[in-house]
Amino acid sequence: MSEKSTPNRHITPKKKREDGRLDGLLRPQQLADFTGQERLKANLTILIEAAKGRQESLDHVLFHGPPGLGKTTLAHVVANEMNVNIRITAGPAIERAGDLAAILTNMRAGDILFIDEVHRLGRAVEEILYPALEDFVLDIVVGKGPGAKNVRLKLPKFTVIGATTRLALLSAPLRTRFGALYRMDFYEQAAIETIVIRGAGILQVPIMPEGASEIACRSRGTPRVALRLLRRVRDYAEVRASGEITGETAVAALNLLEIDHLGLDDLDRRVLRAIIEKFGGGPVGLDTIGASISEESDTIMDVVEPYLLQLGFLERTSRGRMATPHAYAHLDLPLPQHVVPTKSNQPSLFSPSKSNQPSLFSPSDEATDEDDE
Ligand SMILES: Nc1ncnc2c1ncn2[C@@H]1O[C@H](COP(=O)(O)OP(=O)(O)O)[C@@H](O)[C@H]1O
Ligand SMILES: [Mg+2]
Repeated sequence: MSEKSTPNRHITPKKKREDGRLDGLLRPQQLADFTGQERLKANLTILIEAAKGRQESLDHVLFHGPPGLGKTTLAHVVANEMNVNIRITAGPAIERAGDLAAILTNMRAGDILFIDEVHRLGRAVEEILYPALEDFVLDIVVGKGPGAKNVRLKLPKFTVIGATTRLALLSAPLRTRFGALYRMDFYEQAAIETIVIRGAGILQVPIMPEGASEIACRSRGTPRVALRLLRRVRDYAEVRASGEITGETAVAALNLLEIDHLGLDDLDRRVLRAIIEKFGGGPVGLDTIGASISEESDTIMDVVEPYLLQLGFLERTSRGRMATPHAYAHLDLPLPQHVVPTKSNQPSLFSPSKSNQPSLFSPSDEATDEDDE
């Protein structure tokens, strides 16, 4: 068996077991405690205030974006702000149409149903969901064979909040039934620092501003990664130092975890190296990259690629992914003759690789979402 690095990745924004235990504690409860995503928050506030003002249930909401950015958290925040109950489920958990019918008939007016990984709902379940979302009715078939009857049940006006990492995989009819679509972007350095400091406060770990800043710049703009690195650095500070997270202890701990100053870890580097060394810099498809380093292409697509695109280390072309000159430079690999810097990947004064911070401009909606090979 080849070695898989995924389960031990410290920077994976995918949820790990340990995160579950602390999530409740670290999760902001109100919009005011939710740091960053300013535009999204502004829009969401209007949506909430307007619904409350009219004493209506909230329109159906969809959050999309890479894992670990706060989609689940926001769903809870919305429920708190609306002062309603929230019920949590996920696309793969609703296996049959009957499962969904059971959930929906138990909802009360205004209640929120949070459907995580909403792109993974089965076809039959989706069909039931359309009229439920649009007209608050449930069409079910009672009985079997020739005696079967169609029955239409009225549902209370509930709200669905959906979350997905893959907007492109959401069927068009489902997508259009959400009244509000919000894209979550990677967070800015300052917002992540605030999240780290708040987290340290909750965990009661003393932290210096430099320590928070070192953790933040390696967190790939992702709160879940930031909070996880905070816990690892806390361990290090307690075992190897005085317990306080200073800039120095943070750097030492993060170096020991082999996370570089841009937040890249071993898996990111292996992906880049594979593209460069095995496929001449690309273009190459994600599945091929995945197979060549024994990693699931899903992991690469959800977790590795969005951040490498954001840093300008990868470029997506119609024929596959290509490493940019920034990637060669970051890995200290010589730039071959055939990799000509183009306008978009030409290193410049303002290029992300020249600064220690990832660029704050995320790739366009379509660029991250239409990602199927
Ligand atoms: N804006 C934020 N401020 C503070 N903590 C946050 C924020 N967004 C996310 N988090 C924290 O990051 C972790 C991951 O968030 P989560 O909502 O589970 O992400 P997603 O559902 O998008 O994968 C949680 O522990 C949450 O408390
Ligand atoms: Mg989630």
